[in-house]
Amino acid sequence: MARIPKETVDQIIHHADIVEVVGDFVSLKRKGQNMWACCPFHHEKSPSFSVAPAKGLYKCFGCGKAGGVVQFIMDIEGTSYVEALKYLAKKYGIDVQEEEKTPEQQLAQNEKDSQFIVSNWAKDHYHRLLLHTDEGQGIGLSYLRQRGLNQTTIKTFELGYSLDQWDDLLKSATAAGFEQKYLEKTGLVIRREDDQGQDTGRRYDRFRGRVMFPIHNVSGRVIGFGARTLKPNDKTAKYLNSPESEIYHKSDVLYGLYQARQAIRTEELCYLVEGYLDVLSLHQGDIRNVVASSGTSLTDGQIRLIKRYTDNVTVLYDGDAAGIRASLRGIDMLLEGGLNVRVVLFPDGDDPDSYIRKVGDQRFREHLEGASQDFIQFKTDLVSREAAQDPVKKAEAIREVLQSIGKVPDPIKRQVFLQQTSQAFSIDEQVLITEYNKLVRTASGKAAGGQSSSGSGAAPTTGSGYGSQPATRNPQPVTRNLTPEEEAEALMYGASPEDLMGGGGDLQTLTPEELEPVPDVLAQCEREVVRLLLLYSPQPLAPEVSVAQYLLEQLEDTNFKTGLYADMLHLCRQELEQGRWPEVRTLIQHSRADIRSLVAELATEKYELSPNWTTHQIYVPRELDLLQTACDNAILRLNKVNVERELAVRLEALRHPADEASMMENLQTIHLLKQMDNQLANMLGTVIPRAAL
Ligand code: CTP
Ligand code: MN
Repeated sequence: MARIPKETVDQIIHHADIVEVVGDFVSLKRKGQNMWACCPFHHEKSPSFSVAPAKGLYKCFGCGKAGGVVQFIMDIEGTSYVEALKYLAKKYGIDVQEEEKTPEQQLAQNEKDSQFIVSNWAKDHYHRLLLHTDEGQGIGLSYLRQRGLNQTTIKTFELGYSLDQWDDLLKSATAAGFEQKYLEKTGLVIRREDDQGQDTGRRYDRFRGRVMFPIHNVSGRVIGFGARTLKPNDKTAKYLNSPESEIYHKSDVLYGLYQARQAIRTEELCYLVEGYLDVLSLHQGDIRNVVASSGTSLTDGQIRLIKRYTDNVTVLYDGDAAGIRASLRGIDMLLEGGLNVRVVLFPDGDDPDSYIRKVGDQRFREHLEGASQDFIQFKTDLVSREAAQDPVKKAEAIREVLQSIGKVPDPIKRQVFLQQTSQAFSIDEQVLITEYNKLVRTASGKAAGGQSSSGSGAAPTTGSGYGSQPATRNPQPVTRNLTPEEEAEALMYGASPEDLMGGGGDLQTLTPEELEPVPDVLAQCEREVVRLLLLYSPQPLAPEVSVAQYLLEQLEDTNFKTGLYADMLHLCRQELEQGRWPEVRTLIQHSRADIRSLVAELATEKYELSPNWTTHQIYVPRELDLLQTACDNAILRLNKVNVERELAVRLEALRHPADEASMMENLQTIHLLKQMDNQLANMLGTVIPRAAL
């Protein structure tokens, strides 16, 4: 077992900056003292993964993964402690003086590390063959040159060549001390079996006489290879790829991501192409934010990978509109993953690689900018053109577009797309919304029946990440906010007040029983405010702003409705007025028994998520070192519940309107309350944890 001296370990940990290290894998955004991102260890749509630079720690409030720099690399790469240290040492240019190891010792480290090591060695071997052997230069290199690739690109992507022999790699690797086991596990060498599946003892190289494209994971380790034949009439496939292995999971890999990730982050955009050559040509043309799905249909894993770095993806698939038709399903999955999707087409039969070589870098860039279309827009154009004047086809076309819109998780974007679509097809928006909602209902009905409404064909393992958030997986119903006049009209035509509820808030997703205000939600909200006051009053949220000040200012015109909490709030106010912070140790002495026991409870209870809040799909930080968020959420939630209650009262009053004037007034108020409710819902949805204690 290799050992890294303690001094070196200390040096590595001292130099490694958690923000830099984590930042290589996820796109961190600063909020307050900490940095935030969507967690790379579990699927989520809003960030609960935090990095505290001052403490050198990361922690996900969703899945609970936490640790320091070394742990992070171990977690994300699935490597051993030693390999993680080496990764960091390499990143920070620190020399790791290990005792000289034999290949066996190296391989003993752990199974995965061994596979990484042998893959890396093979990559170097193929690269050497490409550049320094006659066959490599004469066949491999000249082919790459003829494809327009220069030395820099070849080096950046570590391209290689495998000799046209049965066992060059096998022999060289064995001579270098590598075990056959790992050559086989990584698929570099194939073991022949007879008809009975018995090992015949014969082994040979998988890749022979091909240009080698090493496939890197996000941290630059080689995990597999794509290999292109150079024989024009080869009977075998144009590309041979490494098989799945412990280190290579095709569905979680995007070719070129390692070389592209920095650019994707700075450009805030990822270009998605199909082939290896497309990635190489564009990169060489200085378009570096490009990755390839490698020919297969997109997977959830790949989409999540993109989402780690950006929300914006532009699909550059081969060929014309008809060609792209086959890819529509995959593109819908991008929408479903919460990405903003654009599409660029290329003229007759060109793919990005052939097109950039045809027109040059400059004109290619112009084409990307000029020809890029929003995906929904593109799909609308495509299907409406296909439908032409045929009304039956047109209806079908509209439904197809609505399907895509249903994949968009963001309600505001859905709304905008619906507006656009109604214009594109010259269909009344309300009609479209009705149709859309019908479609959504059938889709979710199917989903409830056990069939996946998305039909993504996702592997069960990748599907499960989404499965935990069914509400975003299924198309979402949409309601447009009606004007008071429209509301009055709708009521006159027999709509029930509940029909008019909704509009982007969370109420619309609840069943009628749930629509009844949950009696103690309000009490819970009030209790939370009191708890924050009692436990955190003196804590600063900003310079000169304490928790107490912040909360009380926000509560200025709110009266608590639950007696005990109203009294407690009053007590806290009193304490502050007398220049004292509300404190457990003083209030626990209070003469009233119910106050005393409340204080005791609040001071000792473990903070738990209220089930009601989770059904309301409100983001709740699970740990209270997110104080600003806790305060914001408490206030927003309280306000929202109050608004909802008022709304319920007003809607009830609509059932028995006294006269026309009071009904109109009531409608105005309802309209306002609904706007407030929506705003609050949106704010609650977007409150991102800020300061930590
Ligand atoms: N592919 C594959 N196996 C095949 C064909 C294609 O794995 N038999 C994958 C490769 O990742 C390839 C991608 O699908 O890069 C796109 O295929 P294609 O456009 O045919 O390949 P290019 O990379 O464009 O290669 P070339 O231009 O040299 O034909
Ligand atoms: Mn091509």
